[in-house]
Amino acid sequence: MQLIDGKATAAQIKAEIAEEVKQIVEAGGKRPHLAAILVGHDGGSETYVRNKVLACEACGFKSTLLRFEDTISEEELLNEVEKLNRDEDVDGFIVQLPLPRHISEQKVIEAIDYRKDVDGFHPINVGRMAIGLPCYISATPKGILELLRRYHIETSGRKCVILGRSNIVGKPMAQLMMQKQYGDATVTVCHSRSRDLKKECREADIIIAAIGQPDFVTADMVKDGATVIDVGTTRVPDATKKSGFRLNGDVKFSEVAPKCAYITPVPGGVGPMTICMLMKNTLSAGKKEFYQ
Ligand code: GUN
Repeated sequence: MQLIDGKATAAQIKAEIAEEVKQIVEAGGKRPHLAAILVGHDGGSETYVRNKVLACEACGFKSTLLRFEDTISEEELLNEVEKLNRDEDVDGFIVQLPLPRHISEQKVIEAIDYRKDVDGFHPINVGRMAIGLPCYISATPKGILELLRRYHIETSGRKCVILGRSNIVGKPMAQLMMQKQYGDATVTVCHSRSRDLKKECREADIIIAAIGQPDFVTADMVKDGATVIDVGTTRVPDATKKSGFRLNGDVKFSEVAPKCAYITPVPGGVGPMTICMLMKNTLSAGKKEFYQ
């Protein structure tokens, strides 16, 4: 069994990005600039955004954090999005989700200029991804592809089972794993209504678990020699931790790991790669790699 070290891989990629930024700036080019909008005080969102700002520093990017109370109206937030759309210094920006209930996330996502949508959530980027055109690919699926590639894990023609059908992970992951230029795999998407989900999993060469149910994938669901990617990061109470919680994956690691060829741990697997791929998308935005 080999552990897929997302933390080390992410650190290496950030160093690669920092080196490229250094060369761009030395050649007189523009330092990439990421802006983030954070609404309210959700604990998870605060942590993610703080880590995104720190990652920008590590990569040599300029970053701007815009904070608003959760009393901000939808119209005011849409105005802030429009300001960033027009700000020529900002190469890319994100609006951290979730948003307060009185604001439509879809409306906000669609208000973002798709050429600055480094989260890859705008329907234009989602659509372009689905038909294999250059675009921003959302960070978690992109990070998983990068881990599979850097660990030389064969996906072409293999059977890949994806657990979960969210817009952020399950759906784009399925699209990417299916496409010839990315995963080139045979893909099955399972969800809460799937019949005989265990049997589907047992036939998989690669399982990507993204359902947000701690310890859902057990040893009896995994065939010997499979690769298991765990996207789960549920906060569960843990009195031994300073924060009072720990992150628990969707995979029962202790019993599944011994059966695997490769497995990602939680934490330190997919998580660190997600922010790292946001940095990669921001670098692409700075270079106008996909759009003018
Ligand atoms: N909330 C959870 N994941 C993400 C993400 O990748 N981007 C944004 N903007 N919000 C999130």
